[in-house]
Amino acid sequence: MPCPVRPEPLKNKASLFFTFFVKRNSWLSGLFERSYVMKTGRVKLPGIEIVIASELPLVKKIMIDEVENYPKNNLLHTLLEPLLGESIFTSNGCQWRKQRDLMNPAFARARVSEVFSLMQQACDDMLMRFSKINQQNNIRDMDAEMTFVTADIIFRTIMTTKLEPDAAEKITAAFTRFQHQSLRITMLRLFNIPLALFGFKERQRKDAAQEIRDTLEGLIRPRYDAISQGDDKEWTDILSTLLNTIDPETNERFSFKEIVDQVAMLFLAGHETSASALSWAFYLLAEYPEIQQQAFKEIQETVGDRKIKKEDIKKLTFITAIFRETLRLYPPVGFMAREAKEEVTLRDKIVAKGKTVIVSPWLIHRNKDNWQKPHEFDPQRFLQPHDTPLKSKYLPFGMGQRLCVGASFAMQEAILIIASLLQQYRIEAVSGFEPKPVGRLTIRSENGINIRIIKR
Ligand code: HEM
Repeated sequence: MPCPVRPEPLKNKASLFFTFFVKRNSWLSGLFERSYVMKTGRVKLPGIEIVIASELPLVKKIMIDEVENYPKNNLLHTLLEPLLGESIFTSNGCQWRKQRDLMNPAFARARVSEVFSLMQQACDDMLMRFSKINQQNNIRDMDAEMTFVTADIIFRTIMTTKLEPDAAEKITAAFTRFQHQSLRITMLRLFNIPLALFGFKERQRKDAAQEIRDTLEGLIRPRYDAISQGDDKEWTDILSTLLNTIDPETNERFSFKEIVDQVAMLFLAGHETSASALSWAFYLLAEYPEIQQQAFKEIQETVGDRKIKKEDIKKLTFITAIFRETLRLYPPVGFMAREAKEEVTLRDKIVAKGKTVIVSPWLIHRNKDNWQKPHEFDPQRFLQPHDTPLKSKYLPFGMGQRLCVGASFAMQEAILIIASLLQQYRIEAVSGFEPKPVGRLTIRSENGINIRIIKR
């Protein structure tokens, strides 16, 4: 079987500028074949100096052993601030600890299992949309479909609010504008080009972020005011956990802005990543029909034709392995950016104080020192014992103290969506269509992921 798609590695340095910055605006297009085997690498272009650490002991040093010396990179904060404010995703030190303490109870495994029925309602609506498919018109862009259902899940589980198609379209469009302009602004910053020259782009970006925040603020405000006035209506969503958590330092609830910042972050971190992973999972299932058939067999044996229950999720071990293998090949967060607090030497590379250090799941997951036949799709890898500890070389959800808070949430949601869809539909690759992976905020396909959906 041929390997699933990956961007063609660059042949020489001369093509780097054109491919990376001008043609595709995707950092994946800036990789060479040797990027996949190097232990450390350095990217040095005018205005940019980045060290990439891929050797596993170095990765552990940065993410766990000496984590205090490698805080989150400030560029990411500047980039996301208009949308996320002071959110957990980009904060450091005491501020991060306080925000993590606020988030942890809302995402504890037991709490995630409680929101299963809310996830299922969004999943049912997705199936309803698919039920309109007919033989003449049965090709769907799974990237768009997964963006809708995962955003809907976030709205329902966090705020008990269903995402209506009109609102979904508005928010998704604003988010696409935000992402697009953010990428341009990052490039300008990296090359030290004065932003003042591009003030209108920065304005467009801020307007898009504000549009999303206005929607969220409108939904959160009545709940926040009700709690402040002692309304103890029993909500079961994640917002209620956030609203009721007391800050141990001040003994007070979190402020309205703090709550909106965290909800905006959950909206971004929670749907963009899951949508990316799920659309790649359906691409792989369509490309590998025998694996799809094996997954269907597992659903028949475990669930049959009845509705999927939350107890079924952990029994669907083959589907879990498929999703884990998808996260290995197409980790939505393709790189994690940190900065060196002081000058440091990583193997043979000196990193000056304040310079960027990158740990890339995309590169680590596709390095042949860590994985046999690394570019092949083989879910069995996750059903067999590993020769090196899995958690040292598999980091789709990050590593150490900044590990993804929503990992259990994402796994439950993904298995539910994959199993619900395959229970009712067979999917097929569309001949002549090939997705083009691009590395932006997450790893997505530039031309969507078109798939043929056939009712069983
Ligand atoms: C397949 C889906 C997902 C993937 C692959 C993913 C991946 C990641 C990764 C790699 C990080 C660490 C980033 C870093 O260290 O720089 C992270 C952090 C985070 N993720 Fe996820 N994520 C997913 C889904 C979710 C969901 C569903 C939520 C919430 C609803 C969420 C919330 C967060 C938060 C709050 C953080 C920041 C944690 C901290 O810094 O303490 N993620 N995620």
